[in-house]
Amino acid sequence: MRLLLIGAPGAGKGTQAELLADRFNLTHISSGDLLRQHVRDQTSIGQRIKAYVDAGDLVPDAVVMDMLRKPVVAAAESGGYVLDGFPRTVDQAKAAFEVAHALGVEVQAAVHLDVPDAELIRRLVVRGRGSDDTEEVIAHRLQVYREMTIPLLEYYAGREWMVTVDGTRSPGQVHEDIVARLRKLAAFEVS
Ligand code: AP5
Ligand code: MG
Repeated sequence: MRLLLIGAPGAGKGTQAELLADRFNLTHISSGDLLRQHVRDQTSIGQRIKAYVDAGDLVPDAVVMDMLRKPVVAAAESGGYVLDGFPRTVDQAKAAFEVAHALGVEVQAAVHLDVPDAELIRRLVVRGRGSDDTEEVIAHRLQVYREMTIPLLEYYAGREWMVTVDGTRSPGQVHEDIVARLRKLAAFEVS
């Protein structure tokens, strides 16, 4: 199974990716987690991208693409992946499709977690993950989401494998809804 999770900051991408990975034995790949790990380890990528992550700006596409290529292909070859936080622009989606299609590892379903801004802000302020969970940076991340990722949802709209779920309910309820929606897609035989 090869899945994408798309949603605003705080929508629950990481939470739902974990639940799906456990349930279906998938590898959870989070672009944000990998980028933050590079920053913590002070790798050359980490030094290049720290300012973007701290400010809530998107990291350059080429950095993200290069970072994800190997783990995504490896995961696809060993049971599948659930990708959290990538793609988040139309350009990333197009570039990723070219690479994945050539290798036969393209995505089978994309799940959009829909949560209103007030709830997103509430969750992120409570969580306080680090430099990008201050109120000012959260507001900027939401702005970046509207500018860069809403167009991606529009680009994917109408595709049979694109599903939108109400992400405001409990994590367990959201998870069951996602699984129910996946069951209806032709690409899966979900048990
Ligand atoms: P990223 O790490 O992807 O952050 P984000 O999109 O801002 O999202 P979060 O991780 O904050 O939220 P989430 O949706 O995973 O929600 P979570 O499950 O944690 O990206 C960070 C940065 O990296 C970007 O700003 C950018 O700089 C860079 N980056 C990453 N990908 C990139 C890309 N493709 N291109 C360029 N740059 C990129 O939940 C949030 C909180 O809510 C938690 O406390 C959780 O417990 C709680 N919660 C979850 N679900 C529920 C629920 N149902 N009810 C109540 N609470 C809930
Ligand atoms: Mg996350």
